[in-house]
Amino acid sequence: MSAKALAKLINERTGGHKVSMGLILGSGLSGLVNAVQNPTYIPFSDLEGFPQVGVSGHNPNLVIGTIEGVDIAVFGGRAHYYEHGQADIMRLPLETIKELGATSVFVANSAGSLRNDIGPGDLMLITDHINLSGANPLIGEADEKRFVDMVDAYDPKLRQALLNGAKARDIKLSQGVYAWFSGPNFETPAEVRMAARLGADAVGMSTVPEVILARFLGLKAVGVSNITNMGAGLSEGGLSHEQTKQVAGEGAEKFEALLCSFLRQLS
Ligand code: HPA
Repeated sequence: MSAKALAKLINERTGGHKVSMGLILGSGLSGLVNAVQNPTYIPFSDLEGFPQVGVSGHNPNLVIGTIEGVDIAVFGGRAHYYEHGQADIMRLPLETIKELGATSVFVANSAGSLRNDIGPGDLMLITDHINLSGANPLIGEADEKRFVDMVDAYDPKLRQALLNGAKARDIKLSQGVYAWFSGPNFETPAEVRMAARLGADAVGMSTVPEVILARFLGLKAVGVSNITNMGAGLSEGGLSHEQTKQVAGEGAEKFEALLCSFLRQLS
């Protein structure tokens, strides 16, 4: 189905509820769909062409309603490049929220920290990214718009609103550069050392393709990493998805407080 047809179907379900912002939730954060007021739940399986979310810890619904007075479309989970080998797997969902009227998208993820002053349980505002995956969601795109400007890809005004929102609630919000590895394996310690030397502050397996697509589509983007662990080799022991989900879930309350405080700045 086209984004237009999907938007029509969604509008029929919601009674034409407006959408001004999209929110893509990551591992362990899917419970945040419960923060949506007057929600309409639309299973991804009802939205033809939407990727089905296969990773545990994700909620397979699009939830439309309001949070702190902001009209929002929340993706309870996302599809990742590593699930399908398609970097543009989130293109149709983003096109659909654009059709619904969204002008911006907030992308949340779980990530590993490369910095001693940012640890598990902390939140990191993404200031910029490094694409280390070798993949790109716009490969094959013919439109001249494919030459996307990535200066200020993470919108400065929205970032400031997040910083203000964090301050208002006394939430520690670090800032840094997110590096995208394709996954699904966690990085090697050597890869983590490399990413740190290249200027990254956190590593993860998502977000970058969505932000490239958002900018291509003319949507403003902003992103926050929920830090679940130190990058491979930077702390004792190994890494696991179980740990990611658990620590991300523990950070969800703080993330929700930040989200609400941020949205209050906007409304
Ligand atoms: N690496 C990549 N993705 C992640 C990590 C990590 O250390 N932690 C949570 N998601």
